[in-house]
Amino acid sequence: MRTGDKGRARRVALVSLDGVGKTYRGRGGAWEAVRDFTLDLAEGEFFCLLGTSGCGKTTVLNMVAGFEPPTAGRILLDGREVKGPGADRGVVFQGHDSLYDWLSALDNVAFGPRLRGMGRRARRAHAQRFLELVGLAGQGGKHPSELSGGMKQRIQIARALANDPRILLMDEPFGALDALTRATLQGELSRIWAGTGKTVLFITHDIEEACALATRIGVMTRGPGGTLKAVLPVDLPFPRERTSDAFMAVFRRVHALIHEEMARP
Ligand SMILES: Nc1ncnc2c1ncn2[C@@H]1O[C@H](COP(=O)(O)OP(=O)(O)OP(=O)(O)O)[C@@H](O)[C@H]1O
Ligand SMILES: [Mg+2]
Repeated sequence: MRTGDKGRARRVALVSLDGVGKTYRGRGGAWEAVRDFTLDLAEGEFFCLLGTSGCGKTTVLNMVAGFEPPTAGRILLDGREVKGPGADRGVVFQGHDSLYDWLSALDNVAFGPRLRGMGRRARRAHAQRFLELVGLAGQGGKHPSELSGGMKQRIQIARALANDPRILLMDEPFGALDALTRATLQGELSRIWAGTGKTVLFITHDIEEACALATRIGVMTRGPGGTLKAVLPVDLPFPRERTSDAFMAVFRRVHALIHEEMARP
């Protein structure tokens, strides 16, 4: 957080995680998934959170989304404590089961605007704009079961953006896609991010994906009690040239941090 001089606008982080912890208590007993996680996300940044399986990435995202309350610390969005889910956060999941199969692609995208009371014509035109943004202009009449995996992920992105959220929260959204589709969607997301100026918190365990998309990469320690191990700025122009020396240098640094965690007993 940066505080300006008196009389100048105060710049507050869009999202602020302050000493956040999460201990699950269930049938398996208590499990400390996340410990003392502190991070400020600035408006417009693309933050990739990386870490080994089970280190607590989804737990962090679920707490920012308001699906799970932290058991320590607090999370602020625009200076206000997160108490539950809200339309100011658009969530995109790894699977595509979250689409409503009984609605067309267009109506899936128009669902949030409908809940907010937008009229039928207006919300369909609004949804159509976001379908175009994700490259599915002519596919709005299809139902989710008639779409490919990559198309379903594009619909999820369009649906999240149609609510004009302050931040997109994405949990391994391309994890289930083949390598080619994945690379295509990475490029599209990067273009959409640059075009809309949205803030993105993106979870992945794919180092190359993080290096291709992020303005900053956060690497988590291995659980239990996963926390931020390091945050690296990635000052490379977009679209990123994945075979360039500069890209490879970032890749190697992140790779070393992750492998340190994997090697830890
Ligand atoms: N609802 C829950 N109840 C109990 N323990 C949980 C729950 N959700 C997650 N955990 C535990 O918390 C830890 C972190 O899980 P989380 O899903 O956040 O990891 P992750 O980093 O997203 O892993 P992956 O890369 O495999 O998706 C794991 O040990 C997991 O077993
Ligand atoms: Mg996860």
